[in-house]
Amino acid sequence: MKQRTWLYGLLLAGALALPAAQADAQEVTMYKSPYCGCCTGWADTLKGAGFSVTEKKSDEMEAIKQKYGVPEKLASCHTALVGGYIIEGHVPAADIERLLREKPKDVVGLTAPGMPQQSPGMQPDGLEPKGYDVLAFDKNGNTTVFSRY
Ligand code: CU
Ligand code: CU
Repeated sequence: MKQRTWLYGLLLAGALALPAAQADAQEVTMYKSPYCGCCTGWADTLKGAGFSVTEKKSDEMEAIKQKYGVPEKLASCHTALVGGYIIEGHVPAADIERLLREKPKDVVGLTAPGMPQQSPGMQPDGLEPKGYDVLAFDKNGNTTVFSRY
């Protein structure tokens, strides 16, 4: 009887440990214009993938992109920071996860330039991203294709 109680205790401890693991969700800080709705849509898809997103509204998005070294030709709407990398625009959560796993040394960040129509935040939920490339860029603005949709 006693042994059984002990076993239940162990199972319970295991169950309680789970939410603790979720608590260190990867932190994302997203800068966006107060007038742009698709940015919040994108943030929601990240939250759905387990990221924690802090939204910062700014009327100075161009200055923010300059500050973080996002070349003009690679710009989109929002600019986000995660794990020391820059995420510009509607980059799918899976690419961010891969970036954080692989941690490429000379990559400054990922971008989906412009506003790809079928991308997370721009389309109804559940549609696969389609018809655009996610680019990795370095500090000189050189790009390589990171993912192709
Ligand atoms: Cu957008
Ligand atoms: Cu946006």
